[in-house]
Amino acid sequence: MNRYVRILGTGSSAPDRILTNADLEKMVDTSDEWITERSGIKERRIAPPDKASSDYALEASIRAMEMAGVTAVELDMIILATVTPDTPLPSTSCIIQDKLGAKNAAVMDIGAACSGFIYGLSLARSLILTGQAGTILVIGVEMLSRITDWSDRNTCVLFGDGAGAAVVRGSDKSGGIIDTYIKSDGSLAHLLHIPLGGSRTPLNAQNVCNGLRYVQMEGQDVFKAAVKAMGEAAVKILERSKISSEDIDLMIPHQANIRIIEATAKRIKLPMEKVYVNIQRYGNTSSASIPIALDEAVRGGRIKHGDKIVLVAFGAGFTWGSALIEW
Ligand code: ACO
Repeated sequence: MNRYVRILGTGSSAPDRILTNADLEKMVDTSDEWITERSGIKERRIAPPDKASSDYALEASIRAMEMAGVTAVELDMIILATVTPDTPLPSTSCIIQDKLGAKNAAVMDIGAACSGFIYGLSLARSLILTGQAGTILVIGVEMLSRITDWSDRNTCVLFGDGAGAAVVRGSDKSGGIIDTYIKSDGSLAHLLHIPLGGSRTPLNAQNVCNGLRYVQMEGQDVFKAAVKAMGEAAVKILERSKISSEDIDLMIPHQANIRIIEATAKRIKLPMEKVYVNIQRYGNTSSASIPIALDEAVRGGRIKHGDKIVLVAFGAGFTWGSALIEW
């Protein structure tokens, strides 16, 4: 049985089209100054109409597998986190399995919103440590532009599209994903949700245009909950592993708002130089934000062998969680 679980490779992908704050100024009553001050976002990537989530997930996966030196037939499982699947049925992981030719892989989609990639890593680690799988591809992909009301300035300035992936494998070599911590509180679901389009209220000719098929968010309440939960998740993962923030080389938080990121770093007394931030270029890409940032940090040389990395996320549900990785 494998005693450790290591990340062998990472990859990411995002649409070419950039939507800047200046572009948004022409679409809704907003300003570059407001968006930058309140969120830290300067631009985001938006997918063209002919693309689907799986297109970016596939590119990110291929890049992660190339870095890992792992072929599709070696994958025992594909775990894909998304709230924007290609279609309601089947799961988007089935599409990836087919396009990769991962003929030995079981597949599943998981829905934990912005915490999805950490939930996926946590599940992958458990499956490997219990001997149920050896090599797993974990993907976070979102096309939030498809579920955003582009006439609602409260939400449309925040979101973007993209994908990130990681190949994880069991190992005898110590380190890797040392621990994960995942939590939820469904009593606050109504603060960040899409009311229409599920089994409770299916879309029909009468309701399709009323705007409730898009993300509805109570921004300030979500903000407060995110600060509390991400802080707690960061503290917990350090406590459980009995390490101090001084031992952390890099924190990669979910990129929802620069002020939430700063508050999380402050909670564990981590200087911002040790925090990876790319929100200015992507906005909030939900489950894709951490694997995109992780891939940039790996390829950009911000992460070296032996570094201790903390991942921390919060999302709709509410869900939240963290992971400690020794690279
Ligand atoms: N441009 C200009 N003004 C705006 C905009 C905009 N885009 N959006 C809102 N405003 C206005 C509001 O109407 C309000 O005006 P009022 O005072 O006249 O009523 C004013 O700006 C202040 O609004 P607040 O909501 O108080 O602004 P706040 O400082 O809270 O920032 C924000 C808003 C950025 C949305 C913040 O609350 C936030 O980031 N919340 C968390 C969002 C989040 O993380 N969501 C994703 C979670 S993860 C997932 O699963 C997708």
